[in-house]
Amino acid sequence: MCGIVGYVGTRTACGKPLEVCLQGLKRLEYRGYDSAGVALSAPGMDHVAFRKKEGRLDNLVRSIETDPLPLATAGIGHTRWATNGAPSDTNSHPHMSSDGKVGVIHNGIIENAPALKQQLMEDGYTFESSTDTEVAAKLIGKVAAQIIEETGTPDIFEALRRVARQLEGTFTLLATDCRQPNVVVGARHDSPLVVGLGDGENFLGSDVAAFVAYTKEALELGQDEAVQITPDSVTVTDFKGNAVEIRPFTVDWDASASEKGGWDSFMDKEIHEEPHAVADTLLGRFDLEGRLNLDEVRIDEEIFRSIDKIIVIACGTAAYAGMVAKYAIEHWVRIPVEVELAHEFRYRDPILTSRTLVVAISQSGETMDTLMALRHAREQGSRVLAICNTQGSTIPRESDAVLYTHAGPEIAVASTKAFVAQITAAYLIGLYLAQVKGAMYRDEIRGILDELRAMPDKIQRVIDTQSQTIEAAATKMINAQSFLFLGRHVGYPVAMEGALKLKEIAYTFTEGFAAGELKHGPIALVDEGEPVVVIVPPARGRNILHSKVISAIEEVRARGAYTIAVAEEGDDDVRDYADVVFWRPQCPTLMSPLVDVIPMQLFAMDMAKLKGLDVDKPRNLAKSVTVE
Ligand code: F6R
Repeated sequence: MCGIVGYVGTRTACGKPLEVCLQGLKRLEYRGYDSAGVALSAPGMDHVAFRKKEGRLDNLVRSIETDPLPLATAGIGHTRWATNGAPSDTNSHPHMSSDGKVGVIHNGIIENAPALKQQLMEDGYTFESSTDTEVAAKLIGKVAAQIIEETGTPDIFEALRRVARQLEGTFTLLATDCRQPNVVVGARHDSPLVVGLGDGENFLGSDVAAFVAYTKEALELGQDEAVQITPDSVTVTDFKGNAVEIRPFTVDWDASASEKGGWDSFMDKEIHEEPHAVADTLLGRFDLEGRLNLDEVRIDEEIFRSIDKIIVIACGTAAYAGMVAKYAIEHWVRIPVEVELAHEFRYRDPILTSRTLVVAISQSGETMDTLMALRHAREQGSRVLAICNTQGSTIPRESDAVLYTHAGPEIAVASTKAFVAQITAAYLIGLYLAQVKGAMYRDEIRGILDELRAMPDKIQRVIDTQSQTIEAAATKMINAQSFLFLGRHVGYPVAMEGALKLKEIAYTFTEGFAAGELKHGPIALVDEGEPVVVIVPPARGRNILHSKVISAIEEVRARGAYTIAVAEEGDDDVRDYADVVFWRPQCPTLMSPLVDVIPMQLFAMDMAKLKGLDVDKPRNLAKSVTVE
């Protein structure tokens, strides 16, 4: 939530700091789009120049085009998802110190802001906005002035660190001081910040998307660390000013991967990237003999062998990926797998031991609920293995090990390609556990890996053959007020995910549930014309669940439901029972979520588009939920 970018580079004032900030914000807008703003410093300025506007980034860009900002050497930019103070020009970032010499942007929630504000007001400070960020800005300005009084020299880095030590809650703060126009400083506590390393210029960003168009060389910043960038130096310390170890990495995707590249929307592009997301996540992780090689997961084989329980912690779509994985891992490895929403896990005193493997699944690597849950698990002595899509993010850094999904940057707020990549990665972990624990024969593992390798083509086939049918169904259902989604076994989490997608981007009331629950309550919702989407398991192999799901379709149809089925090619029973069928290629049950989810995503996207909604930036949501 909230996108942050910082830049310093040019010794002579020019347009680049503003260009980098606006470009960075464009790439980070998915993190929040309630308002946007920039602050600039240059030699000779007697106050920081800034502009901020409520609404999308375009409002800010138009305002700057009409009334240009001065040239600069340093800049900071912010795109906001409002937590503290309603969206408005006044509450937008940056916020200024009282003397106008320091501009500050912030991501997070400063919990002791009311107490700090009270003290500042007693000292005569006045406030324009209702944000916690303005409190931080006034305080940093005050401390910066005190340091000048004490030493005769401005030191915004030290001012930021002193203030960071006083703050409670979560924050990434960036500041620019017009008295030090070749410096931008940042500090982080429970909120993301990464550093981009350029040649004669350096960058800060909430994630690497902020600067990947300019450099792929980056540094992770740890918890409670502060950073100062100048055109040719990067200094990282703790909040007390002690040097800390730096952790460099190279971004493994190009700037073009985070551009729309001719697609209507990022969501459309990302759905079409799903075959690659699965293939790339599998790449190089096993050999043709069926031997998994997860050396990158730096947990000793002996420890893996001792694992007697897995707990998956995640939120939203990532949690549904975890639910899919539970069915597979329990079947393959014969150890219990619990899946828990991260925000519930932490507060219910879960039973964890050193033999519990906690798998934290997160696309962004920044979801605060998941981060807090993983910290809790580690405090209890469990090992945490992250499945994550974002390099340099907090969750992998704080975990014992990470298995990256290689889905590439996911920009649309609604998660699509990350879901299939997360299932793929979780399956690899399950198979690896089966290998080290000797729970399966090599041939069995090889057979499953062969099935997994076949999935990218099958996903592609759904996209190629079903898109038109799906769009036609969405056109027909455009006025439906609500939808029910049913599934069984691995189809259950897919139904939940289908329901989530539709509510999230098409603002349609949906409920997803296990088809077996139908008679225990939800069937009361079914009325004439009620659309019910059913994920049908494979019929082959006399799958008992198939006939049970067909019965569920009959039951809702008998009560007037309009039924949409997702079913396997060749499943002739379904033809007789469903009003519309989205077909998918044949595959084993445990692989079916990877193809069944595609029509769900396409359907939600088409519904949203037909309603004229912004598919990529649904209302009230942001991509990374970095507050609890
Ligand atoms: C839904 C969606 C969210 C995320 C959830 C977890 O489309 O995107 O439900 O899946 O907020 O986010 P990550 O995976 O970044 O931890």
